[in-house]
Amino acid sequence: MIHLQEEERQRIASELHDSLGQQLTLIQICATSCVNDVANPKNLVEQLYEITATASAASKEVRKIAHNLRPFELDRLGVTRSIELVVDKFATSSSIDITADLDLIDKLLPPDAETGLYRIVQEGLNNLVKHSKATEASVTITHTSRGLEVVIEDNGVGMDLSTIQAAGAGFGLSGIAERVRLIGGKLGINSSPGKGTRLVVRVDGIGKRETWPGDAGVVAGFSNPNHQLSDRNPVPYIRVQ
Ligand SMILES: Nc1ncnc2c1ncn2[C@@H]1O[C@H](COP(=O)(O)OP(=O)(O)OP(=O)(O)O)[C@@H](O)[C@H]1O
Ligand SMILES: [Mg+2]
Repeated sequence: MIHLQEEERQRIASELHDSLGQQLTLIQICATSCVNDVANPKNLVEQLYEITATASAASKEVRKIAHNLRPFELDRLGVTRSIELVVDKFATSSSIDITADLDLIDKLLPPDAETGLYRIVQEGLNNLVKHSKATEASVTITHTSRGLEVVIEDNGVGMDLSTIQAAGAGFGLSGIAERVRLIGGKLGINSSPGKGTRLVVRVDGIGKRETWPGDAGVVAGFSNPNHQLSDRNPVPYIRVQ
């Protein structure tokens, strides 16, 4: 797989070139036409309409590209609240009861890593809504003395990880793995058919509290052993990375 950062650069470069570049060229052509045919009011009006519409589309495009680079809400609301809003959005747009239990982690990680974490939660929830057929799910962020732990879990159909790995996972899971690597974290995926899925991202070394809540429940992976969904769906823990 092409390195994620390189892939993103390519995508943004092609958005800049294909979309914004063409819109600016169109504005330039229309403006030139106005200058060359300034005595023709009909043409002037037509071209100015075209310029207005294209400039407005171009400005939307700039917002979209900037948002892809770093979602605005991360700076405006902080990463914790932004993740909470993502959860709310997926919960509202699906029939799955998704809860969020998030420790405040604003500005604990560098901006790039915050974006990475935000994207991981987005794709985790995307997969959950697309594949899991779950009725309940949760997103938990725990901040302890050892670091951060993000858990996304559902009580859905689960998956056979060996089949998925053998088949070559889609871009979503490998993207998550790559982002976790870039953050300097560890990824665990805990799933088997019919038993739900739990995705755990752990980043050590930015800690605060005394202990990890999950330290007592090693079999259950990093997660809080008292978590409701884990209790309902005890599944063997598989470390992916
Ligand atoms: N929460 C989940 N519940 C059940 N199956 C899942 C879940 N998350 C992922 N999967 C399975 O893992 C596969 C790989 O996921 P991945 O995100 O890599 O690809 P995708 O979602 O199929 O496509 P893409 O993300 O590239 O659009 C999915 O096709 C699905 O079968
Ligand atoms: Mg996916």
